[in-house]
Amino acid sequence: MQKREMWGSRTGFVMAAVGSAIGLGNIWRFPYMVYDNGGGAFLIPYFAAMLIAGIPFMILEFGLGKKFIGSAPKVFSSISRKWEWLGWWQVMVSFIITTYYAVVVAWALNYFVLAFFQGWGTAPKDFFFTKFLAATDSPLHWGSVRPEILIATAAAWFLTIFAVFTGVKSGIERTNKIFMPLLFLLVFVFIGRGLMLPGAVDGLNWLFTPDFSAIKEGKVWADAFGQIFYSLSIGFAIMLSYASYLPEESDISNNACMTVFINCGFSIISGIMIFSVLGYMAQQQGVPISKIATSGVGLAFITLPTAINLMPAPIFFGTLFFLALSVAGLSSMISLNEVVVAALMEKMNISRKKAAVIFCSVGFLISIVFTTGGGLLLLDIVDHFINNFGVLIGGVIEIIFVAWFCRVDDLRAYINSSSEIKIGGLWSLSIRFVAPAMLCFMLVSNFVGDVSKNYGGYSGTATLAFGWSTLFVCIAFAAFCSRHNHAFALIENTNRNFLKRS
Ligand code: PHE
Repeated sequence: MQKREMWGSRTGFVMAAVGSAIGLGNIWRFPYMVYDNGGGAFLIPYFAAMLIAGIPFMILEFGLGKKFIGSAPKVFSSISRKWEWLGWWQVMVSFIITTYYAVVVAWALNYFVLAFFQGWGTAPKDFFFTKFLAATDSPLHWGSVRPEILIATAAAWFLTIFAVFTGVKSGIERTNKIFMPLLFLLVFVFIGRGLMLPGAVDGLNWLFTPDFSAIKEGKVWADAFGQIFYSLSIGFAIMLSYASYLPEESDISNNACMTVFINCGFSIISGIMIFSVLGYMAQQQGVPISKIATSGVGLAFITLPTAINLMPAPIFFGTLFFLALSVAGLSSMISLNEVVVAALMEKMNISRKKAAVIFCSVGFLISIVFTTGGGLLLLDIVDHFINNFGVLIGGVIEIIFVAWFCRVDDLRAYINSSSEIKIGGLWSLSIRFVAPAMLCFMLVSNFVGDVSKNYGGYSGTATLAFGWSTLFVCIAFAAFCSRHNHAFALIENTNRNFLKRS
């Protein structure tokens, strides 16, 4: 049997985990969430969520991966054959996300090139929808494939699968060791100049001035927990796969804390970057910030190009921003790829290279759908349903299964045996009560919201065909894979003692 791959160093592992955590969510989701949810006051629920749910859940995933040494399906299967499906559910969720994440990264790569000559012209909104995407008016009308987006999508797949293909240490670790310092450098250089722009400091005041009445609202707390789970890439079994390559004596809890702190610190830095630009733009255009503050695709591909047009050094700011966005996206995509590739390798008993080629070919073919004129709307629906249900369902079942049906105190002792920071009863309390309660609350409120009203005003056919259907695909895939005979059957049975017997 082949020896299992390992990370080359502690820094390499933390960089990879941070690379997964830091993604588009930090840059285009977090800043607006702070602004919209009480400004500086939002940081209270945010840091509370980080401490009471984010760190404990991260420790749990690191611990599970390291103790049971495997991809998600293998870990759950080795605890109990009946639970293998949960791992496959998470693998399918990651797979679906990668197919469209690649296309968003492709947009960022395209815009990076456009930034050299402000190719978005004087009307970035028009350019984005009409010229760049050739967007159709319905997710049911796809139009034709956009060649530039297709090429960049192929590049995104190539770059990320190349990292996974070449192995944990020489591919994933090495890439992240270049990408993460580069990302921080780009953002710091951007801020260094950006903060000197007139109006930039006003932007920061708008972002951080606290409105303490906001923290009385349940929605604000749910948003804070949602952002923490999404941003830390927990509940996707990503961290679990990454931790499975840790050498025996490695630390768990301190590494988990470092990953979380670096990610959340980066979010704050991104907030400063985005709002310094928005402050400047508001001043230049003489409009209130509320008119221009947005998040997501609109922020990155419409508002930012508009602001960059007004800036003193547009090429400098434009290329920095879109390169940062691309790098943040690529490193998250690598982690999604690894989840799927590791699971395929172990299940089918094939080489890493073979698994990478199979996965990449299928994934790329599906991505093509998102490069058509209907891509943006399709992506919007799939993203909403997979994040609001696919990820949450996987995460909530994972945490309830481990915290309630397994010998979680054994896991705690195992984690403590190699960790610098010892975890106590508070950790168990969090993973048994706080984290699952918040996840369940979010899941139920999302469900009520989406059943009572069609998401985003799309037709029932569209939400059924591209939204709810993603969940059926996950169920079918999980059922299919876990019923099939496989290499995991060879796993020795000692891990089965982890399951509580009633
Ligand atoms: N953590 C990423 C972000 O903040 C999102 C993500 C989650 C990406 C899971 C990949 C996998 O953007």
